[in-house]
Amino acid sequence: MPRTNCRVPRSVLVAAFFVASAAACASGADNAGDPYRATSTASVASMASSTTAGGDATGSGPDCEPADCTLGELGRGAGMLVGAAVAPTQLDEVDTAALIAAEMTSVTPENEMKWAEIHPERERYDFEQADRLVEFAESNGLAVRGHTLVWHQDAGNPLPEWLLDVDDPEEMRTVVADHIATVVGRYRGRIDRWDVVNEPLVSVGAGPVDNHFSRVLGPEWIALAFEEAHAADPEARLFLNEHSAEYSEERADALVALVEELLAADVPLHGVGLQSHLFVGPPPEGAIGDLVRRLRALDLEVAITELDVPLPAGDEPGTTVAPTPDALATQADAYQQVVEECLVAGCNEVTTWGVSDRATWLDTFLGRPDTLPLLFDAALQPKPAYEEVRAVLTDATG
Ligand code: XIL
Repeated sequence: MPRTNCRVPRSVLVAAFFVASAAACASGADNAGDPYRATSTASVASMASSTTAGGDATGSGPDCEPADCTLGELGRGAGMLVGAAVAPTQLDEVDTAALIAAEMTSVTPENEMKWAEIHPERERYDFEQADRLVEFAESNGLAVRGHTLVWHQDAGNPLPEWLLDVDDPEEMRTVVADHIATVVGRYRGRIDRWDVVNEPLVSVGAGPVDNHFSRVLGPEWIALAFEEAHAADPEARLFLNEHSAEYSEERADALVALVEELLAADVPLHGVGLQSHLFVGPPPEGAIGDLVRRLRALDLEVAITELDVPLPAGDEPGTTVAPTPDALATQADAYQQVVEECLVAGCNEVTTWGVSDRATWLDTFLGRPDTLPLLFDAALQPKPAYEEVRAVLTDATG
């Protein structure tokens, strides 16, 4: 993306995220004719079952002619899950639900498994929305990426007050162990992989994050979370998930050093998730591929877990450039670069943070509307970025 379009967003949180990223930067639609339009939940189910989308990524080749395959089918042929973060409101949109069921092989709950949603009070869990998403996935043959067990999130849906009040290490250990045993245990055998620890690095720079868990528990907070998750479901693949490591060599080094340390201590860690919120366009060429190779050399799985690529900021503060063919082509190139590098280096999943441009967290996070960062437009039509990702997956299936 053009460097002149890099803008520093205003809020402190955004600025923190942005500085890490910036190292590399020197509705209401009318759906008539929409192929994903469905008129009932029954037709949603039948669309899904008419695909061969499933919860694995075996790389065994698609059962369809490439031109007729969905993205998920092409991904399966290439040994890659293709997923999207989903909010329950999107399951209420019949056309969006049909698109997810048809095109994806995996879903990630956007917020429904975070502490504030799933464990709002110390003695009360609320599984309603998380269950709904898992049941949707199961009835459509999709895998579920569990997200996330331990995160200090301070915006959107922050940690509940009751948890912030826990400041005794022994008590905190019990609380975290109970939370993980309860949440992972409930979905044992149904959720095959978890983002156990989210964002273990500080947002700006590359040191360890200083958060409520690390302050109360000390450096053992990460190992504790993995051990509890492993005990609750020994079959689940357990991931560390981090942002902006693809933008900064310093963060990439810190991430690799952290996972080496955890592996040396026999912590049950099986993979690393690269969030890949590409706030400032594509990372330096080769950066994702290099990082994926370093992690694969440690025998870890690597997934792109939260990919989105906003259109660049406009000249006026608080605006985004118009979605001209050029802007959409630039966005598509970024998607192509990331997915191709990742695939060639051995990733086994690419998940976007959202489904279509109807709903994205980025408009709020970046403080400007119309960032339009996803593969489908607000009318659920495939964008140039979708075509580029298709092309990468098609090439990989031979
Ligand atoms: C975001 C959600 O999309 C928002 O709805 C919420 O308000 C804040 O969290 N990294 C992560 C995700 O790991 O969980 C975040 O999701 C986006 C950044």
